[in-house]
Amino acid sequence: KHSRPNHHPYKSGTTPRQNPPSSQGLSTRRELYERDFPVYKQPVEVGCFSLDSERRFFNDSRQMRYYVEPDRNPNFDLRDGYKDRFIKRDDRVKEKLDHILRWILANRSKLSSRVTTASPRALDVDIVTWRGHLTKLLTSPYETREGWLLAVTRFRGTLYISEVETEAARRDRENREERHEEMMYWGYKFEQYTCADNAHSVPDPGGVVNTNEAFCTVVQTRLADHRLLFSGEVDCRDKDPNAPAPPACYIELKTSAEICTPKQRSNFHRFKLLKWWAQSFLPGVPRVVAGFRDHEGVVVTVDTFPISKMSHLIKNEHNCWKPTVCMNFCCDFLSFVKRIAAEDNPSVVYLFSWEPHRDVTYSVHRDSQYSFLPHWYVEEMTS
Ligand code: A3P
Ligand code: MG
Ligand code: MG
Repeated sequence: KHSRPNHHPYKSGTTPRQNPPSSQGLSTRRELYERDFPVYKQPVEVGCFSLDSERRFFNDSRQMRYYVEPDRNPNFDLRDGYKDRFIKRDDRVKEKLDHILRWILANRSKLSSRVTTASPRALDVDIVTWRGHLTKLLTSPYETREGWLLAVTRFRGTLYISEVETEAARRDRENREERHEEMMYWGYKFEQYTCADNAHSVPDPGGVVNTNEAFCTVVQTRLADHRLLFSGEVDCRDKDPNAPAPPACYIELKTSAEICTPKQRSNFHRFKLLKWWAQSFLPGVPRVVAGFRDHEGVVVTVDTFPISKMSHLIKNEHNCWKPTVCMNFCCDFLSFVKRIAAEDNPSVVYLFSWEPHRDVTYSVHRDSQYSFLPHWYVEEMTS
């Protein structure tokens, strides 16, 4: 039997503490964040939404998919259909927080209890963002390659956090090699082999893969004294009608290169599991189902990784990542943001910027290209 981890998920740690940020910015050095696991409340699903094949928003679960367990010896050709049955989302279009804001407007009554003249329809949350932005924060203390830019606006007491593409990320996107483009398709193709459209049907590997389609959960939780509302894309759910309620019935699907050597196993633990853990721990998705592929892009084995066991799996790795470092850095970053982003104004953006081996710094922008709260949202929330 496993010993009890000292960072028991979704339960309280002890006294919250904080690193004093230097006058310049906030450090991402790991040693500064090795303290007790912060309070992270069990995430609660407060709603969901769907994006259809043309990226249109629906305030419902129409794009939910159902996991169908593959045979013991799968033989999924992930390259099939790349040329002729693939519709790729246009990643030049930046949607910012728009879909989440649409969901908020459609579900305002669930979120605002303080309807007073002083603060009409203020939200009862401190932070609104995408799960993916929080994932980047969690992994920053271990990230050595990619920096990030996060735009923050305070509006009616709530902080909205929306990513801005870095110059380096734009260059990478525009100069992606054909092999890399194709490999990005593989993950979606694996989803098609393992997911059905409803609980009683089977996957259709002959269909079109359209990456515009998405099902997103919206969860509420608290990290120390930060009340969070965020949304994240969910790949599928357990099709058993007796499965636990969302998000506990959700399953994250991943593909990864087959592991053949101890070095590959170590790299998988040190780098891949960190990303997988961070992404699913945040919304309370309990497991990852991984398809391991050979060099020809054929999935040869499928394994389940419970999120709660990932930190045990990595214990033997030297100098490995720690969940508590990830969560404490995220917590301190949010405190830093609360302190800096003081002016409540929908057209002011505080731009937080980070590059590996540097501190987080920020700049302030008024009525700039960085403003991201749409007029339709500001007006509806003000009137
Ligand atoms: P894999 O992660 O299995 O390769 P997600 O796993 O988050 O549901 O994303 C589905 C797929 O989208 C990924 O499958 C991958 O193919 C692609 N993808 C997601 N994020 C990506 C990124 N930052 N760069 C490249 N591909 C990405
Ligand atoms: Mg996904
Ligand atoms: Mg996935």
